[in-house]
Amino acid sequence: MKISIIGAGNVGALSAMRIAQYNLGDIFLVDIAKGLAEGKALDLADAQAVLGLDYNIRGSDDISSIKDSDIVVITAGLARKPGMTREELLARNSQILKEVCLNIKKLASQAVVIVVTNPLDLMTYLALKITGFAKNKVLGMGSSLDSSRFANLIAQELKLPASNVEAMVVGAHGEGMLPLAKYTKIKGVSLEEFLSDEQMENLTKKTIGRGAKIVALLGSGRAFLAPSAAVTQMVRIIAKDEKKILGACAYLDGEYGIKDICLGVPCRLGRGGIEKIIELDLTDKEKKELLRSADSIRNLLKQLVF
Ligand code: NAI
Repeated sequence: MKISIIGAGNVGALSAMRIAQYNLGDIFLVDIAKGLAEGKALDLADAQAVLGLDYNIRGSDDISSIKDSDIVVITAGLARKPGMTREELLARNSQILKEVCLNIKKLASQAVVIVVTNPLDLMTYLALKITGFAKNKVLGMGSSLDSSRFANLIAQELKLPASNVEAMVVGAHGEGMLPLAKYTKIKGVSLEEFLSDEQMENLTKKTIGRGAKIVALLGSGRAFLAPSAAVTQMVRIIAKDEKKILGACAYLDGEYGIKDICLGVPCRLGRGGIEKIIELDLTDKEKKELLRSADSIRNLLKQLVF
């Protein structure tokens, strides 16, 4: 199994470390910044003896090193800098994604592509269109991170271990995310049995604001520790063909009454990428909110030039 990670920044490098520790395959780290991927790969390789593990990791600034990858993770992109508008960030990251995806199409046409770069739902759509890959082969990591954040906040609220909570968040990776109480389970029991509407509303707000809260605390930089764990989980399920259900940003072709955008929904993942999109039975209110989330993505998509 050959796993390439494009973008050796915070999320990319830590994902490489975690993937190496799971021994999921040979790892190729690529970054446009000269020496960065190679330096980090050498550093990661030096941890083998300490960890008592053997893995193969290489780094390069040459994109052709992703040739014939089975899985490609895209974490290449810019962060929003002071004074940069959302539109400017979207334009810059679209340009990066476009260049990266043309190379994936040329060099690794059989790969499953996992998009991490933000704005996630738009970048996943762009990756699908630029590569021209089948819709099951291109997915984005966002909902699983949102679900993990929601689970942690529930655990704090109810004073129980986070690992007991199986959370379900769908919709856009951002303001339009939609935590679902009915499908969030604590040891198999629906969250609806534990929380009042007011508590649920409060936790939803906190989940939506979690990324921004972390950015504010860090001063400069953004979350990468939980994101890299979520990337690794997705890579593991696909590499090991685990057929697990996980929230992922997927191309919708009529599911949930939504067409031609990528949005976070529960999917069964395996070696083929998205093997099935699970359609949950939503209340009228939830359906409306999901459609609103989809509309917000659709409006932003109009700004994408490709
Ligand atoms: P970072 O700034 O640490 O790393 C990004 C790397 O991409 C840099 O090393 C840069 O040199 C590289 N890069 C830029 N253009 C490139 C190109 N054309 N080819 C190869 N490499 C290129 O950023 P970080 O924190 O690792 O985040 C990466 C992306 O992931 C961002 O867009 C961020 O918003 C996103 N993100 C998404 C999350 C999600 O849940 N989907 C969670 C956390 C981050």
